[in-house]
Amino acid sequence: MRKTVVITGASSGIGRALALEFAAQGYDLGVAARRLPALEALRDELLAANPDSGLRVLTAVLDVDDDANVGPVLHGLFGALGKVDIVVVNAGVNDFTAVGRGTFAKEKQLLQTNLIGAIATVNAAVEHFLTCGGGQLVGISSLASLQAIPKQAAYCASKAALSMYLDAARIELKHKNIRITKILPGFVKTEIMHNVGKYPFAVSAGQAAQQIVSAVQKGKRRAVVPAFPWCLLLPLFGHFPDALFRRRG
Ligand SMILES: NC(=O)c1ccc[n+]([C@@H]2O[C@H](COP(=O)([O-])OP(=O)(O)OC[C@H]3O[C@@H](n4cnc5c(N)ncnc54)[C@H](OP(=O)(O)O)[C@@H]3O)[C@@H](O)[C@H]2O)c1
Repeated sequence: MRKTVVITGASSGIGRALALEFAAQGYDLGVAARRLPALEALRDELLAANPDSGLRVLTAVLDVDDDANVGPVLHGLFGALGKVDIVVVNAGVNDFTAVGRGTFAKEKQLLQTNLIGAIATVNAAVEHFLTCGGGQLVGISSLASLQAIPKQAAYCASKAALSMYLDAARIELKHKNIRITKILPGFVKTEIMHNVGKYPFAVSAGQAAQQIVSAVQKGKRRAVVPAFPWCLLLPLFGHFPDALFRRRG
């Protein structure tokens, strides 16, 4: 029996690459984001790349900032797909911010999308899993959840809080047949941030997606992506000297 995965933030970057990877491995898909034309283009590409496979791809317009609507939109998508086995909480944003220098609105927005929007998505997914006997939730956090980075205070805070939320939810739900996999990406070449591809050890979204899907299939609690070299450096996270960060602005 084919499995079904729902991915938020599937219109670009890691979410889009995850949709391509899951479809290639025989999963049916629900893809959600704000940009419907990008989701429709993805659906058409997926169906063209997997002809005669019986692949089903449904799209849903979802703005996770509109938290009262997250549950209704996702439950509509889950209902249309039938039973959903995996939900990937991926929608997110990033931007440079400057503490005390006029970027509070931007910081609030980062927290709204990356934390409150993600928590609203987790709640809708878990409600669905509870009604159908279980499932797997995949949260896309970040290595930035483990290390304070200047000009990224709100982003680091949003991902640290999301990681903690996912860890607590994992323990809370382990006797309900609900598995939680937390993903900590390093740098992935996507639209999220200008020049992210020039940062150390950056990988393509496709490479990241392959490693994420493998971790999901193994039911891992936590996966660092790419595993090499970040896993080797993991003990240093949270302990990098301040001097490592070049002074900017
Ligand atoms: N790239 C990296 O180096 C990196 C590293 C660590 C973690 N991550 C995390 O990976 C996730 C995906 O990011 P990405 O790098 O793939 O960036 P991306 O290419 O910019 O993709 C972000 C996705 O999130 C969606 N999104 C943003 N705001 C949304 C909202 N309010 N409601 C619904 N969807 C929204 C966007 O779709 P629409 O604009 O169509 O809504 C888009 O599909 C994020 O959570 C990010 O924090 C990325």
